[in-house]
Amino acid sequence: MAILKWDEKYSVNISLIDEQHKVLLKMINDFYDSIQSKSNNELIGELIRKMNDYVKFHFSTEEKMFQDYNYVEYYNHKKEHDEFIDKVTDLDRRFREGKIIVSFEITNFLKKWVIDHILKSDKKYSLHFTKMGLN
Ligand SMILES: [Fe+2]
Repeated sequence: MAILKWDEKYSVNISLIDEQHKVLLKMINDFYDSIQSKSNNELIGELIRKMNDYVKFHFSTEEKMFQDYNYVEYYNHKKEHDEFIDKVTDLDRRFREGKIIVSFEITNFLKKWVIDHILKSDKKYSLHFTKMGLN
């Protein structure tokens, strides 16, 4: 069962970014499902690694847009991205080293961070970019 469902209220009105956010939500759902169904560590580890890669790719898409369109909040926003990358990278490393057992607590952290980030920080740039004609 999905713990995260796409909702129009998450839209930043830029289709490329919305599509990437949907992929991210799906990855968190897959991660949650894999824990719930007690999948083997190999599969869970692969999902964490893929999520880590995708988060980096997605953030770099946003950051390129910030630079291309001179977004004033670039540094503050990038700082949030970097902190999240550190968390996911740490999760990836600790899981591979067998130092943590994945849990619903981790899933909830990922879910909460992504939703809060979309609703607060991403929504902020949405207005800026849509005014400039991006969609
Ligand atoms: Fe962002």
